[in-house]
Amino acid sequence: MSNDKKLGDHVQLPARDVQSTGDLYDLFLSRNDRGVHKWHHYFDVYERHLGRFRGTAFRVLEIGVSKGGSLSMWSEFFGPEARIVGVDVDPQTLAFDGRWANVTVRIGDQADPAFLASLDDEFGPFDVVIDDGGHTARQQINSFNLLYPRMTERGVYICEDTHTSYWPQFADAGPGVTMIEHAKKMIDHLHLPYLGGAKAFARFGVRPEDRKGNLQVTRFAAETFSVLFYDSMIVFERRARAEPFREIR
Ligand SMILES: C[S@@+](CC[C@H](N)C(=O)[O-])C[C@H]1O[C@@H](n2cnc3c(N)ncnc32)[C@H](O)[C@@H]1O
Repeated sequence: MSNDKKLGDHVQLPARDVQSTGDLYDLFLSRNDRGVHKWHHYFDVYERHLGRFRGTAFRVLEIGVSKGGSLSMWSEFFGPEARIVGVDVDPQTLAFDGRWANVTVRIGDQADPAFLASLDDEFGPFDVVIDDGGHTARQQINSFNLLYPRMTERGVYICEDTHTSYWPQFADAGPGVTMIEHAKKMIDHLHLPYLGGAKAFARFGVRPEDRKGNLQVTRFAAETFSVLFYDSMIVFERRARAEPFREIR
């Protein structure tokens, strides 16, 4: 029997299926006060990247407080050791400041680098940033550019609702400038060490201690382990990198 499946084939998406599993998803499903607004398929992504922080002392920033439900959910999920900071442009969300013992709220514009810098000076460096704010290109890109380099070495940055990169009403940073396009460029940064082609291949076969000269890359390339694209979420995992090294053993 021939199998001529092609990646571009048009197939039907099931209308209903299990979207996520795990404690955080169960916590979300247990809420019924209309306080938290999340897409169901995000929870597997949260579990995968944020599960290791549960029960530890770490710092998380969520941009976008709205009705406070996600801050309450994070507080319960991560536990009392976590320091949770919420940011919103809407002054009414200040009502959630201190509502849960480990939650602080600050008012400001996520597109304003000076505000974010002062926030980071006060509460950072953050181990986790979740951008669930206004979702425009300028907001997402400015927040990422300012906060990401200031995060802890193994930090995780999550930009949510990146489907807005495909919606014209969120395109406030000029033609073709979107968070998705910005993150795609970051993939090129990750591969900067290899731009030398055959020379790079030869260099990375030499033992690191025997190599001559040094290799310059961008800070992003030197401090990033991975860029992961999910449906409507981009996850950046931070980790200090060294020059690549290949070996036959
Ligand atoms: C999608 S809601 C947040 C939902 C919440 N995280 C949850 O899971 O239930 C988006 C929030 O971002 C806020 N927001 C919009 N523009 C913003 C900006 N420029 N800076 C900070 N917050 C902004 C809105 O006021 C709104 O409360």
